[in-house]
Amino acid sequence: MSAGQALVDAARDVYVRDAAQILRPPSNGLPYLRHDRAGELVLEGGALTVSDGRVTAFEAHDGAGLHVDASGCAVVPGLVDCHTHLPFAGWRAQEYMSKVTGVAYEQIARSGGGIAASARAFAEAGDNAVLSQARALAGEMLGHGTTAFEGKCGYGLAVDAELRALRLSDRLAEQVAQQRTSTALLAHSVPPGFDADGWMDEVEAMLPRVIAETGASALDIFVESVAFSNEHLARMGGLASQYGLALRCHVEQFATHRSVPVALEHGARSVDHLACLHPDDLGPLAAAECAAVLLPGAEFLGAEQLAPGRELADAGAICVLATDLNPGTSPIVALPVIVGLAVRRYGWSVREALLAVTLNAAWVMGLERDLGSLEPGKRADFLLLDAPVEHVPYRFGHNPVAACFVGGLPVVVRPDAAWRLSALP
Ligand code: NIG
Ligand code: FE
Repeated sequence: MSAGQALVDAARDVYVRDAAQILRPPSNGLPYLRHDRAGELVLEGGALTVSDGRVTAFEAHDGAGLHVDASGCAVVPGLVDCHTHLPFAGWRAQEYMSKVTGVAYEQIARSGGGIAASARAFAEAGDNAVLSQARALAGEMLGHGTTAFEGKCGYGLAVDAELRALRLSDRLAEQVAQQRTSTALLAHSVPPGFDADGWMDEVEAMLPRVIAETGASALDIFVESVAFSNEHLARMGGLASQYGLALRCHVEQFATHRSVPVALEHGARSVDHLACLHPDDLGPLAAAECAAVLLPGAEFLGAEQLAPGRELADAGAICVLATDLNPGTSPIVALPVIVGLAVRRYGWSVREALLAVTLNAAWVMGLERDLGSLEPGKRADFLLLDAPVEHVPYRFGHNPVAACFVGGLPVVVRPDAAWRLSALP
């Protein structure tokens, strides 16, 4: 039996000891924590015990099982990436090269690049090619501490192709260590041969098949001059409630369209991007039970405006951060990088940033009862970071994940951290 297998076999009971910091919510059972309360997150040294893949307690034990020496390390919940565009096919590096010289996203989209280019690549790629690229990316995400993620369709741009993307997402979920949810981003770009209204008719007609044939749990739409309008957002909201799906939306990314009031009126679970959020919409959003999903990677790489992250947090919004992993605006897999951007560019504390990639992100995905925080009964998805949490934004670009546990099992252990794990008979 290999040493690795011995550790996995011992992992029925896991004892983490001597952590410099363990990040915990201020009380158990919170569905989310508004950002004006992020300072209440507890960050104290100590121990963590796990049994049968679930967190059981926060005290040291000496029994048989897997022992983890966490001295000098932070222990945090597995990171949750609630906004990615997995699976997709290929990349668009050339487009990035023109973007940095000042060519606008809109111009790229109107000249056949952007989403349409990724749709062509998706149509040309076989299922195995799409899945192997997505699996590799999920593996990279795991190495950077992402233990749950959401993935969207949206590069199909035809009924059968969007259903294919959602089915591939379901197959991907069987092949990765993470928990995964899928979102039907059925209004991403207006497909060739349609106008936006005509395509929304197709979306409405295909929803029974989406429900019957795929595991999608949310609907999504991109509101922008090159995509769909607030009227289409309202229509998507009606469809979401009719089919019992969560409503999510890409809004206020490149220009202000006043989409947030429409989204709130339709009970959206999240409004994502918000770089161009209208100031009058900030207060109502902060007061609503709707997450503000901020995507500072797309903002940075696209030289977009900056979402009002500081103001949203101060106003008590349910703030969330995500990678927006996609081949166009954000080819970023690493949530620690996103945390670093948010701390630097929004002026957030580390607690605020970590809350936004754990509990609050799990709430967006509807998984907050099981994931997103370290508390008794929840799934033991946790990370051993190689330094206190303050190092995550500070050592920008460094991967702080020394070990990553999913359901109590060590799924990633960095070679320099291997000595920390030992199996006790
Ligand atoms: O979230 N804004 C729309 N959708 C993606 C970009 C898609 C693409 O360019 O491929 C986003 O940024
Ligand atoms: Fe996106």
